[in-house]
Amino acid sequence: MTEAPFQMCGVRKPEARWRRLMGGMSWKIVVLAIVGSVAPVLAFDGGDSQVRNCTWCHGAGGQGYTVAPRLAGQRSEYLESQIKSFREHTRDNPFSRQYMWGAVASLAPQDARDLAAYFASVPPKPANDGDSFLAVRGKTIYLDGIPEANVASCYACHGPNAEGVRNIPRLGGLAYAYLKTRLEQWGQGYHSGMGTPMPVVARSLGPNEIEALASYLSFVR
Ligand code: HEC
Ligand code: HEC
Repeated sequence: MTEAPFQMCGVRKPEARWRRLMGGMSWKIVVLAIVGSVAPVLAFDGGDSQVRNCTWCHGAGGQGYTVAPRLAGQRSEYLESQIKSFREHTRDNPFSRQYMWGAVASLAPQDARDLAAYFASVPPKPANDGDSFLAVRGKTIYLDGIPEANVASCYACHGPNAEGVRNIPRLGGLAYAYLKTRLEQWGQGYHSGMGTPMPVVARSLGPNEIEALASYLSFVR
């Protein structure tokens, strides 16, 4: 996949810069010092070539980069379910087709499971890139929904701090543009998993509600 990076991937990757700064120090030791305390028994570390196949697009530590969302701290069951839906072509929006269908085409099921467990174990950093004024309304919709407009409360499924549970994703701290696009795309008829409630939930949201929710969620830690 490295021959098909994003248009904006001309920017020098931070990993490369860091590796140079570290000089003689082993890259693997540095990464293990960071993630090792969280999950001592992992099939991979950040210097593994399988992981680098993903962080090339998803950014250092899987923290997200341009249009590729943050994977760090995401629920492993959700990551696995999305990898499956890319492979089965049920997640069919333009960026998924362009970047992810190929990226997972030859990934063995055990490697998918190990990568999902690895990224889930990396502490996530919030994007903090929404509009803080709109975020106030976003928080109200997140917690209470809009009963008179039949908008469900997100809290009921995604949890009090947008941390997710099982195969329901963590939303807190994802990038504003990614959240906004995902919510818009369900309304446009694109799908991700089979039988998920999100197309119905997202179709009940207007553009102002989507901007408010995406703003709020980008700040949640
Ligand atoms: C060429 C760039 C590229 C590569 C390589 C790549 N990804 Fe992605 N990935 C993306 C983009 C872009 C998206 C957003 C797709 C969308 O908007 O629906 C994405 C989305 C995802 C998602 C969905 C996340 C979510 O919150 O729903 C998962 C999971 C994922 N990638 C895992 C991986 C794994 C694991 C690897 C390595 C095997 C990988 N990706 C390699 C570009 C890439
Ligand atoms: C009935 C449970 C339920 C409710 C209510 C719900 N969600 Fe979801 N949400 C899910 C599930 C399940 C998924 C995973 C979908 C999939 O697998 O494709 C999801 C996925 C998402 C994603 C994709 C995250 C990513 O990483 O790509 C976003 C964004 C999202 N929900 C936002 C919301 C917002 C905002 C609300 C409130 C207006 C909401 N959800 C209400 C169950 C729910």
